Amino acid sequence: MERPDNDVRLRDVEAGDLPIFFDHQTDPVACHMAAFTVEDPADLDAFVARWARILADEAITAKTILFGGQVAGHVLSFEQGGRREVSYWVGRSFWGRGIATRALSWLLEDLETRPLYARAAKDNVASIRVLEKCGFTIAGEDKGFANARGEEVEEYILELTD
Ligand SMILES: CC(C)(COP(=O)(O)OP(=O)(O)OC[C@H]1O[C@@H](n2cnc3c(N)ncnc32)[C@H](O)[C@@H]1OP(=O)(O)O)[C@@H](O)C(=O)NCCC(=O)NCCS
Repeated sequence: MERPDNDVRLRDVEAGDLPIFFDHQTDPVACHMAAFTVEDPADLDAFVARWARILADEAITAKTILFGGQVAGHVLSFEQGGRREVSYWVGRSFWGRGIATRALSWLLEDLETRPLYARAAKDNVASIRVLEKCGFTIAGEDKGFANARGEEVEEYILELTD
């Protein structure tokens, strides 16, 4: 069935999406929230190289999130330390409308691997809520240097088992 135009859809990433992802990546409010960002979000060459690697890697699923036909962000699934993880980023002008939750649930429908994992800074309440609404539960904790905050930050590891 066709979804309404203002609904959330995922599609493959297109070259024209990347400047929008770069805008999202350079938002200091979003970076502080995510905490564990790339070293220098404003480094365009590093951004271009990273996305070229992502899009060339068959072990990574990368999808653009569309909301009402507009590029609202992206979702990723990748291997880390032998485990499959998910992550996502939504542009600030789209926050608070259920977009991340909907986008992650579409991604989870397409991924057969279980358990699946995700990480979120302990104070990234919105991200933890997104994960919990999609069925993830807190399964552990860790801490590491967070580039966006210039200090060590505690994080939760969340797990989806079914
Ligand atoms: C985290 C992020 C993806 C959330 O996207 P979003 O589309 O706004 O999320 P949703 O609207 O689907 O859901 C957010 C949930 O968190 C809640 N929430 C949002 N901000 C909150 C806050 N400061 N405190 C408590 N709850 C909060 C919302 O109320 C909602 O829960 P509800 O449906 O029970 O009301 C988005 O803010 C983002 O991309 N941030 C920057 C990058 C990032 O942190 N990525 C995740 C890295 S782990």
